[in-house]
Amino acid sequence: MRPRFETLYALIGDDAKVFADIGYDLGALMVAFLKRRPHGQAVGVEIQPQAAARFRSTHAATLGRAGLDRVTLLTGSGLAPLTDRAADAAPIDCAVIAGIGEDTTLSLCRASAELVAALPRLVICIPTFHATIRPGLAELGLYAADERLVVDRGRTYEVIAFEPGVEPSDDAVATLFGPRLFERRDPGVVGWLEDVRDRYQKAYAHGLRNYLNGPRRALGEKLARLDEALERARQWDDATRTSG
Ligand SMILES: C[S@@+](CC[C@H](N)C(=O)[O-])C[C@H]1O[C@@H](n2cnc3c(N)ncnc32)[C@H](O)[C@@H]1O
Repeated sequence: MRPRFETLYALIGDDAKVFADIGYDLGALMVAFLKRRPHGQAVGVEIQPQAAARFRSTHAATLGRAGLDRVTLLTGSGLAPLTDRAADAAPIDCAVIAGIGEDTTLSLCRASAELVAALPRLVICIPTFHATIRPGLAELGLYAADERLVVDRGRTYEVIAFEPGVEPSDDAVATLFGPRLFERRDPGVVGWLEDVRDRYQKAYAHGLRNYLNGPRRALGEKLARLDEALERARQWDDATRTSG
């Protein structure tokens, strides 16, 4: 499996028995979960009407009848279809939303705020650098309990596991960029932030003209603190090299 999927899989958590994949597309993550956990159940939601039939025909041989019986495929948008599950269905331990843009991911979570707040874990992987998802999910009562950086096909992705609760850190820069990454002094932070700086430098210098007002403000405020975040990460990298 590609590194991004391996990281998503790792953050679903070892104890999860039922996991939901919102926007499962070809279903790689669900297949891994069903194969690796013989008693696990997966619930997939896709907006593409043909996705369910495609999943069943593509993965029938790999999963077999017993594997297919452990997956429920729902057609619709975001987390809302999860409420269509049978009343006696086992509760979802973890939902994943990966590969969907920041604005859409946040609107889907806001549209199902009650359901989101009741999830033991919600794993998010936004495909681009983002600025509104952390504060947006904090408003829904979640904090980043765990987070990882993963490089896949030359790009760095943040994979964040949110859980109910309040962010314990009062470190403003760390909270903005990744409190658990900063706590852990993650060695990937320098490379990731250098890449973000290189990619956004031009747009930032031109006032992020191509962004809508709300995201533009949040992204501008975050990028304004990028050098500070990078400087801190470089210091801990230097300290590790010196002590090693
Ligand atoms: C880029 S793919 C990502 C697939 C996979 N989750 C991954 O991380 O590689 C995004 C998928 O999300 C689906 N999608 C987009 N908006 C959605 C929505 N509102 N509800 C459910 N699925 C959605 C798309 O149809 C597409 O299959």
